[in-house]
Amino acid sequence: MAGQLIDGAALARSIREQLTQTLAAAAATGAARPGLAVLLVGDDAASQVYVRNKVKACAEVGVASTLLRLPAQTSQDELLARVHELNQDPTVHGILVQLPLPPGLDESRIMAAIDPAKDVDGFHAVNAGALLLGQPGFWPCTPHGCMRMLDTVPGMQSLRGKHAVVVGRSHIVGKPVALMLLARDATVTVCHSGTPDLAAHTRTADVLVAAVGRAGLITAGMVKPGAVVLDVGINRDSQGKLCGDVAASVAQVAAYLSPVPGGVGPMTIALLLHNTVESARRHALA
Ligand code: GUN
Repeated sequence: MAGQLIDGAALARSIREQLTQTLAAAAATGAARPGLAVLLVGDDAASQVYVRNKVKACAEVGVASTLLRLPAQTSQDELLARVHELNQDPTVHGILVQLPLPPGLDESRIMAAIDPAKDVDGFHAVNAGALLLGQPGFWPCTPHGCMRMLDTVPGMQSLRGKHAVVVGRSHIVGKPVALMLLARDATVTVCHSGTPDLAAHTRTADVLVAAVGRAGLITAGMVKPGAVVLDVGINRDSQGKLCGDVAASVAQVAAYLSPVPGGVGPMTIALLLHNTVESARRHALA
């Protein structure tokens, strides 16, 4: 029997609709519109698509977005100066530097320069530390989207007694999602490229998160029957079609599966909007 798809596109739509209503109500009281500044350095093709989608989503819900396109030759100092300007700009509540950055730019130094109170990506060490310690801060959007998708699956609100396996250990997805699962009382295993016998781990997962970026990495034989599988991969197959890390055959084994496209991708954008609106709210209170 085929498992049920977790419709990230529909869930993202409902989050965006809710944000639209919140912003319309706030605007009626004279509140300023939340502002998001997006910095895109260089001409990475995938990044251009992601950024276009983020800017479009902002307009739909009533967030004012500014896209700053900078050439690939932009120096570290120039980029840092732009970030500092945005940190000081009271109309900007969220700053997003699209990754990856071109060679020669130090990602960690750029992330460290963003005001943590405007770090709607949740990549700054202050926000990463807040997640680790269970303190308030901004959660990274993709893993947060995974958790919201998990919320829609019956019995997955508490993960006590459940085994969650994360494949991938990136700062953007693997590590933060592992912490979020742990905060929900799951027993968490993090696997990566150096893990021997990956299938032995994945086969014991009640919740499996695949976040490696390798098409077809997770096959049906690697999944426990009845598992919940969240596919965070964004890859192109040999025909150039968008696909995740999870093979199509997994749908025959898993009870719930997030599709690619239409799963985690739209949720990332919805949670970015959520963080931007939340940042504007916190700045208004400050
Ligand atoms: N590149 C891939 N995913 C992301 C993301 O969520 N935020 C940023 N800034 N860059 C990315």
